[in-house]
Amino acid sequence: MFDGVAKRYDITNTVLTGGVDYYWRRVTRKALALRPGERVLDLAAGTGVSTVELAKSGAWCLAADFSQGMLAAGRWRNVPMVAADAMALPFADDSFDAVTISYGLRNVSDPDLALREMLRVTKPGGRLVVAEFSTPTFAPFRTVYMEYLMKALPRVATGVSSNPDAYVYLAESIRAWPNQPQLAMRIADAGWSAVRWRNLTGGIVALHRAYKLG
Ligand SMILES: C[S@@+](CC[C@H](N)C(=O)[O-])C[C@H]1O[C@@H](n2cnc3c(N)ncnc32)[C@H](O)[C@@H]1O
Repeated sequence: MFDGVAKRYDITNTVLTGGVDYYWRRVTRKALALRPGERVLDLAAGTGVSTVELAKSGAWCLAADFSQGMLAAGRWRNVPMVAADAMALPFADDSFDAVTISYGLRNVSDPDLALREMLRVTKPGGRLVVAEFSTPTFAPFRTVYMEYLMKALPRVATGVSSNPDAYVYLAESIRAWPNQPQLAMRIADAGWSAVRWRNLTGGIVALHRAYKLG
């Protein structure tokens, strides 16, 4: 599916979010508190659009994704890229100072396994940030948002994406995804410590942060 949307992936994001995706990426970078020289894994990085934002920190940021099409569409970006499955990462234990995944965990077929793999490759004391669509907290807004999602999003995508069906899936997968406390529990169950979250744009997106015990 991601190979099929790769060519117009970045522009479709910007159109569907009205450009707010750039703000969400900036806040994700800040939440990671990256320092120059650190090694960071950006998992499910797709075209590397999330990775270039992280690299502004001066840290060494590696984009990993299992869609060759997504990686190829972002090859022009100046970030190292590797094909890798989130459920069987080709990295040694304790390899990265920080691991992050933006709008990717929901798409992995076994997110709990991916969370355990991310923990394995993170150094003791290292950190995790998961940026993912979530549940708006204000009930009236939540209703409007879910209406927008279910009805408008696939129609808007028809005008801009190379595979509009993928955006029907996007709306359905967001509705089926655990809310903020449920995801926090799953991150903790995978072995991560001190799990916290912060809502962005009223909870359309949530950033979950956690640490690997030192
Ligand atoms: C919505 S895109 C997110 C891309 C990018 N991180 C961003 O912020 O725009 C989700 C990505 O998850 C990747 N993905 C899904 N399952 C995966 C897996 N098991 N291993 C690696 N990548 C996976 C897809 O190939 C796709 O590129």
